[in-house]
Amino acid sequence: MYRPIFISATNTDMGKTTVALQLAQLYNDKGIKTLLAKPIETGINTQEQGDAQVLLEANQHIDPDLSLEDISFYRFVLAASPFVAARFEPHLPPIDFKHIEKKLKALQEKCDLLIIEGVGGLLVPLDEKVRIVDLALYLKTKLLLVSGSKLGMLNDLLLNLHYLSSNKIPCQIAINMQDNRNYYQTSKPYVDYLNSSLKDPILVFQEQQDLLLNRLLES
Ligand code: GTP
Ligand code: MG
Repeated sequence: MYRPIFISATNTDMGKTTVALQLAQLYNDKGIKTLLAKPIETGINTQEQGDAQVLLEANQHIDPDLSLEDISFYRFVLAASPFVAARFEPHLPPIDFKHIEKKLKALQEKCDLLIIEGVGGLLVPLDEKVRIVDLALYLKTKLLLVSGSKLGMLNDLLLNLHYLSSNKIPCQIAINMQDNRNYYQTSKPYVDYLNSSLKDPILVFQEQQDLLLNRLLES
């Protein structure tokens, strides 16, 4: 059994779900039985299919008996940080890391590798005390940070790198490249410059999948 992978991002909407689904597919293709979880989700009643629902459908190809409650434990209506969304549903139980850990352990027993999607970016507040990064640390998972590829990504990336290195949090970083030309023109030269001094260079998800897959499996 491998250490679970926790997917966070430099901001919301950077491609955590997209990357999570593709990683699970790639690992499953290699014969590593991989399941996906979204412990906390907000904005659950919007028109589009929610993240946990999408992840569940992928899981059901591997284990048809799984249901939404097996992979998603705190679900809020408002599309906002859990801190804010929870204020609108005060009847719901507070987020409890121990409960999340217990539910994820049960899921982990059904697979070789568990991939956990966070919520929003690294420092999204869950309540007065904790942020989503604290959940990843509590669970002692590997951490994958998904970065965007559009103009503005460098600022997000540097802020995230600063936080991670100041707090000595090991992390793999992958750029979800949505617009190839844009990235090459506006950001790649600086990412190359950064990489010359990083222990774990920033990868481009779409171009360096094998390398990322291997790095994420190292203990
Ligand atoms: P939250 O969970 O809401 O914070 O977002 P997320 O980080 O999971 O991002 P998600 O994977 O949902 O991607 C955000 C949006 O970008 C979605 O509408 C995706 O369809 C789109 N998207 C993500 N990756 C790609 C990509 O590689 N190419 C294209 N064209 N669209 C993408
Ligand atoms: Mg998502």
